[in-house]
Parts: sequence; structure tokens; C-alpha cells
Amino acid sequence: MNIKNLSINFIGFSKSNYDNAIFIVDATVFDLYAARLQGCKCVIVQGKERSKSLATVKKIIAELITFKADRKSTLVAVGGGVVTDITGYVASVYMRGITFGFVPTTLLAMVDAAIGGKNGVNFGLHKNFIGTINQPSFINIDMSFLKTLPLQEWKNGFAEIIKHACIKDEKLYNLLKKHDLTYFTNNPQVLLKIIKKNINIKLGVVKKDVLENGERKHLNFGHTLGHAIETVHKISHGKAVAIGMCFAAELSAQIFQFDSPLEVKELIHNYELPTRFNSLNKEKVLNILMMDKKKENELIHFVLLTNIGKAETQLLDKKQIEIALHKF
Ligand SMILES: NC(=O)c1ccc[n+]([C@@H]2O[C@H](COP(=O)([O-])OP(=O)(O)OC[C@H]3O[C@@H](n4cnc5c(N)ncnc54)[C@H](O)[C@@H]3O)[C@@H](O)[C@H]2O)c1
Repeated sequence: MNIKNLSINFIGFSKSNYDNAIFIVDATVFDLYAARLQGCKCVIVQGKERSKSLATVKKIIAELITFKADRKSTLVAVGGGVVTDITGYVASVYMRGITFGFVPTTLLAMVDAAIGGKNGVNFGLHKNFIGTINQPSFINIDMSFLKTLPLQEWKNGFAEIIKHACIKDEKLYNLLKKHDLTYFTNNPQVLLKIIKKNINIKLGVVKKDVLENGERKHLNFGHTLGHAIETVHKISHGKAVAIGMCFAAELSAQIFQFDSPLEVKELIHNYELPTRFNSLNKEKVLNILMMDKKKENELIHFVLLTNIGKAETQLLDKKQIEIALHKF
């Protein structure tokens, strides 16, 4: 599927909208919304990072065969980023590829994970190491799923929203500065606008650079260190990215004379996200970092800020990262 044909809809979830569908559903979402999926073919997946594995892929494929899924079937992910990432991958390889679409149920998946066609699973300590870039046919967003989203998951979603603002949109950054989590959770119309804005930011970048040869790399702001912390310390993606952004903001000040690292940290703190990790295992984190799949001749691509709303990638060697990590 070409990203230009992707259809993004803001519609209430109804099983009658899906023909030949097999739903891959987050276990918590299934428990909370069983009535919406009554009578549907559903494969249940635990919405946990450890589910992003080849073992889960194998289990889903076995269930698809039991359901007699064929090339006319459509896989529909109903869940957060874990479920959308796995579903996109399974659909890309099942019978050499079948149609798929997403119904994201976390804020993070609505504004980021469901968009852009990157999908896949982890392999041992390697995060998102096995996967494809393959676009869904549709993304259907039903904001009513957010009513049951735990507070921590709202915060995680805002980590990616702050990321988009930092790399691409000073106006959004200033809006985030003016308000807080409570304001957005209590104002569904404003929240809807923010979700649409973030989808457009990500889509705008991805459309120009689907395969991540250039500008798409900027979307990894906070993720290079973030992924390593997530893997070593088993904390949520959003929290890890928040810490990663604080580190990248400090590096940006050192390398590009970026003048607002403290302001970025303050914004992250105001959205109740961590700005550091007290017992960071720097050695293990550094080792994982050096296994990053985007490494180039022992150099790591780091996304840094030159200004609020403007990012650049910089190649750094192990020593530079080690020194910065020890200062952090
Ligand atoms: N493909 C991409 O471009 C991309 C981008 C960003 C993140 N990701 C990936 O996304 C994953 C993180 O996604 P996430 O933050 O959505 O986490 P997640 O999928 O683990 O969901 C977080 C938690 O929320 C629960 N949940 C989901 N919807 C709910 C609802 N409506 N009500 C109540 N509980 C609900 C889940 O059961 C889970 O416990 C990571 O694996 C990350 O690597 C991918």
C-alpha cells in the first residue's frame, strides 16, 4: 500500500465497518470492550513490550491459519503501539502480505505508532530489529477508547507529542508550554486538534522520506538513547523517550549551542514524565546503544536540536556518547 492512498478516519468503532476482518486485539482492550467485538474473529495479544517477539508472531500466524485467513482477509489491529507494530508485521509476511489497518487505542499509537508504516518486533536485546516498512490501508481513530486509558499512558503519549513539537513545530511547542496534561485530557475538542496536528506532522515527514534516508531520521529524537534505556531498564517507551530527549537536548547545547535544554526538560517535567533515570546502568546502556541498527561504521546517528522546531542529525562516536552519558 502506498502511503498516498492511506485513509485516516475519525469514526466510532463498529465491527460492521470491516469485511473479512480478523482483529488482533490488545488483551486489556478486549476485556474492556468485549461487547464491541462480540462475534468477531479475534486474536488476543498482551499489550506488553515483551509481546513484540517472533514467538508472538508465530502464535498469531497459527491462529490465523485456524481462522482460515487467506489473501482476501484484512488484519485489523485494535490496541496500542505494541499491537499495531506486531499486526503490521504479521500482515506483511502472512502469505507474502495481506491487507491491514489500525484502530489505535492509546494516545501514543494515535499520534505516532500507527502512523508511518514502520512495523516489527524485537529480537533479544535488539529493539524493533525484525520488521518491514509497509503502510496500512486505513487508520480509524475512535477517541472514545481513550476514556479508559490509564494516566501513565496519557503521559507516554505526550512524550511523542513533545518530540514532534521539538523537532518540527514551535507553535505546538508553545501551546504545550501554555497548558498541561489536565487541560488536554479535559478538553476533547482541543485534544482532537492536537491529535490531528501530530498525525499531520508525522505524515508530512514520512511522505517525503518513507524509507528514512533523510528527514525521517528526525523522528528518532530521544529514541536512540530511549530505546537503549527501554531495553535495559524495562521502562515504558514514553518514559524512556522522555529521558532520551533530555539527554539529546543537553547534547544539542554542547554541539549546536542549542539555547533551551533546560526549557525542554521543564516541559517534559510539566507533562509528568521523567527527565533522568537515577540508577541508569550507563555501561549496559552504552553497549546496547552501540548495537543500534542505524549505526554507520561505529558511529551513531543522534538527532539533535538547533532550535525549538528544528532538528539535525549528527554522527557521534562511542567516546563522545560515553562522556556525555557520564555528565548526564
Ligand atoms: N511503529 C512506529 O512508528 C512506532 C512509533 C512509536 C512507538 N512505537 C512502539 O509502540 C509501542 C508503545 O506503544 P503504546 O505506548 O501504545 O504501548 P502499548 O501498546 O503497550 O499500550 C500501553 C498499555 O495501554 C493498554 N491499553 C491500550 N489501549 C487502552 C485503552 N483504550 N484503555 C485502557 N488500556 C489500554 C495496553 O494494554 C498496555 O498495557 C512500543 O513498542 C514502541 O516501540 C512504534
